[in-house]
Amino acid sequence: MKIGVPKETTPGERRVALVPETVSRLAKSGNTVVVERGAGEASSFPDRLYADAGATIGDPYAAELVVKVQKPSDDELARLHEGTVLIAFLQPLTQHDLVRELARRRVTALSMDAIPRITRAQPMDALSSQATVAGYKAVVVAAAALPKFFPMLTTAAGTIAPAKAFVIGAGVAGLQAIATARRLGAVVEAFDTRPIVKEQVQSLGAKFLEVDLGETGEGTGGYAKELSEEAHRKEVELLAKAVKENDIVITTAAIPGRPAPKLITADMVRSMRPGSVIVDLAAETGGNCELTRPGEVSVVDGVRIDGTTNLPSTMPYHASQMYSRNVASLLGLMLAKDGTLNVDMNDDVVKGTVITKDGEVVHEATKKALDVGGLRPPAPARSA
Ligand code: NAI
Repeated sequence: MKIGVPKETTPGERRVALVPETVSRLAKSGNTVVVERGAGEASSFPDRLYADAGATIGDPYAAELVVKVQKPSDDELARLHEGTVLIAFLQPLTQHDLVRELARRRVTALSMDAIPRITRAQPMDALSSQATVAGYKAVVVAAAALPKFFPMLTTAAGTIAPAKAFVIGAGVAGLQAIATARRLGAVVEAFDTRPIVKEQVQSLGAKFLEVDLGETGEGTGGYAKELSEEAHRKEVELLAKAVKENDIVITTAAIPGRPAPKLITADMVRSMRPGSVIVDLAAETGGNCELTRPGEVSVVDGVRIDGTTNLPSTMPYHASQMYSRNVASLLGLMLAKDGTLNVDMNDDVVKGTVITKDGEVVHEATKKALDVGGLRPPAPARSA
């Protein structure tokens, strides 16, 4: 199989889809890997490391399988040949035109954000690997901006109180943020509408904020569902006190396929001590804070609100390494010993991940989204 690795062209994207470690394994098992010149430069993988790993530097779009991080641009789409297999974060539920065009071009498209979240697919779960990076980096960014220490210090100049951090949403990113803030010595509390995460929060040494909303946000398959208006109002009221008392607020609350719930009001921001920091990991889908400007950092009454999107791209070495391993695991399901690629729609993981095939949209949730697409504006995309 000839596998192509393009240089990412989305502004600000520094990750690369396959790192030399993975390329070496693929080359050793008989595949040809073609890497675009400079594809790994921004993530600290220069061309010579790819050459050492057995890749050639050339046109990745001439390959039968093209592996990317971000969805293709119009120019990149035009370079995909009929019958090419494409793997990337395609955000198929919201990128309707892209999905239709991939089908029209008879590209077999697999989306890394559609990997079913079942135990067998965990090594392929790129949303989780990139959320891990985002959760870690959110705390590092907050620590760098906070005019305070994180840990308690006993010094000759007296005792310094530890910083207080509040994490809203204890999914993959939130749990990593809790663990990182604890490692740096902050006192951490967290909240999630799925009470099932309480034990995980506590096992990381954080306090779980007990809030009775009259309902839980537990949806199907372990995921969150949207709260009723009444429960949402209650939650916002109850979070106000915690937001006011903390130096750092990291928000990660998300509902798959929906805009992020607005949990921090402008008044709540103004109630925080000057110098406090909010890092809004939900910025990409609109933000959990009313004042978040996606893609920007703003300061309101001395409170810094960080709406940086695509935090994983700011740690491109490990983010790429993890993504690359996720892709390699997925390929492990599909690459036969003779080097052919078998997109087996009888395999649950493959079936759940393939969006277009043989000129058709074959992914059930995407088909549904395309059906309703004309009736209401799509929810903002959630990317990695
Ligand atoms: P996510 O990014 O969709 O959401 C983040 C968190 O925000 C979730 O924990 C959600 O409950 C919470 N949230 C939503 N609305 C909220 C609100 N109004 N207030 C406070 N919190 C709110 O979730 P993520 O991190 O992608 O995954 C969620 C869960 O999925 C995991 O904790 C796990 O249970 C499950 N999962 C399972 C995997 C597997 O079995 N392979 C892999 C990854 C996740």
